[in-house]
Amino acid sequence: MRGVPTGRPRRTAVAPRGRAAPHGAREDVRCAPRQGRPPRIGRMDVVIAGGHGKIALRLARLLTARGDRVRSLFRNPAHADDVRAAGAEPVVCDLERVGVAEVARHVDGADAVVFAAGAGPGSGAARKDTVDRAASVLMADAAERTGVRRFVQISSMGAGQPPRPGADEVWAAYVKAKGEAEDDLRARDLDWVILRPGRLTDDPGTGRVTLAEPPVGRAEVARDDVAAVIAALLDAPSVNRRTLELVGGDTPVAEAVAALSSPL
Ligand SMILES: NC(=O)c1ccc[n+]([C@@H]2O[C@H](COP(=O)([O-])OP(=O)(O)OC[C@H]3O[C@@H](n4cnc5c(N)ncnc54)[C@H](OP(=O)(O)O)[C@@H]3O)[C@@H](O)[C@H]2O)c1
Repeated sequence: MRGVPTGRPRRTAVAPRGRAAPHGAREDVRCAPRQGRPPRIGRMDVVIAGGHGKIALRLARLLTARGDRVRSLFRNPAHADDVRAAGAEPVVCDLERVGVAEVARHVDGADAVVFAAGAGPGSGAARKDTVDRAASVLMADAAERTGVRRFVQISSMGAGQPPRPGADEVWAAYVKAKGEAEDDLRARDLDWVILRPGRLTDDPGTGRVTLAEPPVGRAEVARDDVAAVIAALLDAPSVNRRTLELVGGDTPVAEAVAALSSPL
């Protein structure tokens, strides 16, 4: 698997964490909560897994519009133009077919990983395990291997809970896979946030949400607003090691995230 050339140069040399910036490289301020650095004043380097997904493309547009670098990992080469149109660097990478060494190459030097992949509707129980669980584990392994501490995982309301009465086996496999992916992430020495949206819609975002630790009542949330919350979380390193549920609401995204922040 390989990165698809984007036709434009990488704008800034980014030094992997813990190593000196190359000569002449700009010192970017990145998400480094342990050192108590101030919030963002420079661009961030973000890798999105499942980069052709509906939330992923929205997130790539938001991040690149504010000047961040985004590398998007997706499996179908035909999706490269869509990813590029969202401002991201396309990287063909099927997360069910590659190993940690390859993923680590794609993640190396990033400030944050966002896991936005999912087997999706129409997939069977087996792919809930290979994508919703195992691909998240793979991304987290690659993040650890490369020293990328920040990891935002898109999970789902219901993750890890017994399936609702009458739910089919695919739903049961889905909430089991999401729950196991969450558990895997919680056990790691990473700066993680688990984000559990309610039912996703393609309605235009309102910019207003309810974002809190569980339980938040089940409701819908626009994918636009999920992407906006993730972009804000990437800028809020003190929101760390938290499991958050997200639905549409009344609180502006920035306020909702700020309310969860604690002083560094
Ligand atoms: N639907 C809901 O109401 C709901 C509610 C809460 C949470 N969620 C979760 O929210 C997340 C994102 O939602 P979304 O609407 O943006 O989903 P989406 O549009 O289905 O995006 C998921 C992406 O994951 C990609 N993917 C699947 N297998 C892959 C692989 N082996 N390697 C690389 N990429 C792979 C898919 O690529 P392909 O197009 O190639 O398959 C797809 O682009 C998902 O994890 C979903 O489970 C959904």
